[in-house]
Amino acid sequence: MQGLPLACSSWDEKEIAAIEHIIAKDRYTMGEHVAQFEQDFARFFKIPYAVMVNSGSSANLLAIAALCFKKHRPLTPGDEVIVPSLSWSTTYYPVTQYGMKLVFVDIDLETLNINPDLIEAAITSKTRAIFVPNILGNPADLLKIKALCARYDLYLIEDNCESMGAKLQEQYVGTYGTLGTFSCFFSHHISTMEGGVVVTHDKELYQILLSLRAHGWTRQLPEDNLLCAKAEDPFYELFRFILPGYNLRPLEMSGAIGVEQLKKLAQIIKVRRENAQCFVELFKHHPHFIIQKENGESSWFGFSLIIRPESPLKREQVLAKLKEHDVEIRPIISGNFLRQPVIRYLNHRVVGVHHHADRVHDYGFFMGNHQIDIRKPLEIIAKVWLNYD
Ligand SMILES: Cc1ncc(COP(=O)(O)O)c(C=O)c1O
Repeated sequence: MQGLPLACSSWDEKEIAAIEHIIAKDRYTMGEHVAQFEQDFARFFKIPYAVMVNSGSSANLLAIAALCFKKHRPLTPGDEVIVPSLSWSTTYYPVTQYGMKLVFVDIDLETLNINPDLIEAAITSKTRAIFVPNILGNPADLLKIKALCARYDLYLIEDNCESMGAKLQEQYVGTYGTLGTFSCFFSHHISTMEGGVVVTHDKELYQILLSLRAHGWTRQLPEDNLLCAKAEDPFYELFRFILPGYNLRPLEMSGAIGVEQLKKLAQIIKVRRENAQCFVELFKHHPHFIIQKENGESSWFGFSLIIRPESPLKREQVLAKLKEHDVEIRPIISGNFLRQPVIRYLNHRVVGVHHHADRVHDYGFFMGNHQIDIRKPLEIIAKVWLNYD
């Protein structure tokens, strides 16, 4: 491999054959292959319900929306939802789009996840949920967070779009909360072109997700469902709308590709973890860089590097050196999201200072991990290009 790209394709002839199969069938809209993918996904992650959508961002939108249409204890406008100040933009948007307030808590500089010790101070009588991303493959401290949710009667929602296949105490993350979301965008652990999944243990939420995904209609709901009595005349059931939903359906091709990709996931995680072992070995005592500290079993989306406070290095000089040698890098997601221009449109409250998110913002970057062996390029990067005196 020349340099180190951010990502490379995890497809082979199996995914191409899956696409060709759909073309041969000449049915492109959501159907049996999406249903098969959902079934396989739920089985893999050991959770009763999985709903495929057209992106991880759509999965986040549906997860928040679903909680707003629950019969008992729905989320309502004015409620507060606790989030860390480091995540992807579309973790945050649905919360304010549904009239709720984001409450920002700083992250932990080593794990890059929400600092669980800061959460309790952020809880008020208005707090109803904690929306937790697992950053760059690394599980957040979900045990502590779940205990807090139990104590204060809060929903836990996991944005697991970066961490498919990661585990904490033998349980896949993304399945710890009331709802969990996944992304299948290119560069993520599996790719269905665009794609996402919402998972839940809750039957009512599952059925709400089915309706919200497709126009708010009843068509995908079973006869015996928790949302409504089906109309006696089947004519009215064809176009019957019960919730203010969307059209976030995935294409049938994405479902068919997903079925093939999921068969490879265990191997993909294995190789990513082997690459990570090499990365950690190379950088764990680096005088200039802080690397991500694993919690549980990370699925290592990428490898973050944050210049240490005592280091004289400038990020521009490091990035320039990496660029010279075709190492593709990205900011660590949003950096401190409070410093993104869009924040002025989002109803929010800030708890405490956000020094760690700021450090990430000003001194961090990440390189991609892959489902193929990249130990050689990592060694070259470490020894030759990041071996500063
Ligand atoms: C934490 C997180 N949430 C949500 C998303 C959105 O996923 P998608 O790109 O599939 O919309 C991403 C994208 O990378 C992400 O990193």
